[in-house]
Amino acid sequence: MDWGIKNRLSRLIQPDGHCFFMPIDHGYFQGPTSSLEKPGETIKPLLPFCDALFVTRGVLRSCVDPANSKPIILRVSGGTSVVGKDLANEVITTSIEEIIRLNVAAVGISIFVGSNYEKETLSNLSKLVNECENYGIPVMAVTAVGKEMGKRDARYLGLACRIAAELGARVVKTYWCDKDFDKVVNGCPVPVVMAGGPKCKTELEVFDFVCDGMQKGAIGINLGRNVWQNPNPVGMARALQAIIHKKATAKEAYELFNETKSSVRTCA
Ligand code: 5RP
Repeated sequence: MDWGIKNRLSRLIQPDGHCFFMPIDHGYFQGPTSSLEKPGETIKPLLPFCDALFVTRGVLRSCVDPANSKPIILRVSGGTSVVGKDLANEVITTSIEEIIRLNVAAVGISIFVGSNYEKETLSNLSKLVNECENYGIPVMAVTAVGKEMGKRDARYLGLACRIAAELGARVVKTYWCDKDFDKVVNGCPVPVVMAGGPKCKTELEVFDFVCDGMQKGAIGINLGRNVWQNPNPVGMARALQAIIHKKATAKEAYELFNETKSSVRTCA
């Protein structure tokens, strides 16, 4: 691996081998997502706890302070919306010149395995890897399921993760599943990061699945709504950081969450 790509990955994956990415890219297909109406305000109190932000170029430019930012994973796929025909029909939205200009640590792109646009999205991933590897920029593949959340079982996720890695992704982001998640991780030759999905019913549910996933080999999380849609987002971020980087159990994380004084919601 070249120095540049190693250097970028080490900005994202910490010396303990783990990572906590904070996604704020939801607006690229959902519009002004609840609690993310003003992304710059939402992330301000959370930045000290995460290792990187997952964000589009538009929000990066308008809401993230270039002088005081965490490393950036740039979301570079899109072109569809929740009210459109098919969420899977994505294209690559951002040129390689723009990716380089923004000095990002990595880029992220969705693939929709098993969808009507499987071939197109896998081809997007391959093209992006071809371009980005020339400049030492790692690609994170996001195994997206669109509106079909039922697809989140080990067989499907294992298939999607392995394909993403085979096509050259350096990191794969996928969903945790309660059965055989270790098979998903073990079948993927590159590091696996867990996505969050819609807000869970309880905080403990989040801490439980994150702990379980870490024990089964994931290197970290890319978790958004379960953090910044919680009434105590700082408590969530602090507790998750403790699981990821301080080996806290779900119970310890929950105690930490409760100890953290509920922060005032800062978004509109
Ligand atoms: C959308 C994404 C988001 O980054 C992802 O969904 C993570 O956020 P959350 O934890 O809110 O699900 O990649 O495809």
